[in-house]
Amino acid sequence: MIRIAAAGDVHASEATRERVESAFARVEAEADVILLAGDLTTTGEPEQAAVLARACEGLSIPVFAVLGNHDFHAGRGEEIRALLSDVGVHVLDRSWATCEIAGMQFGVVGTKGFVGGFPGSVLPDFGEPLLRQVYAETTHEAEAIGAGLREIVHCDLRVVLLHYAPVEATVVGEPQGIHVLLGSDRLATPIAECGADLVLHGHAHAGSFEGHIGQIPVYNVAVHVTGRDFWIFDLEGARGRSEVEVEGPA
Ligand SMILES: [Fe+2]
Ligand SMILES: [Fe+2]
Repeated sequence: MIRIAAAGDVHASEATRERVESAFARVEAEADVILLAGDLTTTGEPEQAAVLARACEGLSIPVFAVLGNHDFHAGRGEEIRALLSDVGVHVLDRSWATCEIAGMQFGVVGTKGFVGGFPGSVLPDFGEPLLRQVYAETTHEAEAIGAGLREIVHCDLRVVLLHYAPVEATVVGEPQGIHVLLGSDRLATPIAECGADLVLHGHAHAGSFEGHIGQIPVYNVAVHVTGRDFWIFDLEGARGRSEVEVEGPA
């Protein structure tokens, strides 16, 4: 069994330093791996990322993260990525990583995801080049998810880590008019095709906790949704079979 501690939208800053540091120190003893679903900072300033980096520095368990839209706001996403990488955080961007935990191969495909909406209200691939570029960006994200899942097909457990939502169920609670900005069902297509054991995302602070892509469970782990610093998932894995137990708050 692998125990995952997941959190999205930590939005670290100097103001939350104490809380962030104590949350990470506590969860280290309770989990095998930490997954961070983007919006690591408040407004994308490297000083804010440094707060999170300090909390992750020296942890004995692996940390995987994706960036969120807030982490790009100051145009300093690369610096944020570097700060976190320097302390050993695996920042995934249209990429994947594996590690061995409890004798099992654990694989994560990570990318930010992007906008586009859900059936009934989707951004079309039509018209002005700028709009079509937005559509194409989501296409590239979806392709990366598929490519990553094919690379980690051998793993006992496969997780997809995103910031934007791949299903509408987990953004329900947010105003309907902004669902198009909270994710895209096109991100779900490669997950449905390639399979995964667990999908995590954040971004929709007022969204809902639980959704699914076919039989694959999807959770919005934004801390505003879970109401906790971390949510713990127990994954029991074996080739061709896995069970996710929603363990509860940490
Ligand atoms: Fe956020
Ligand atoms: Fe966000």
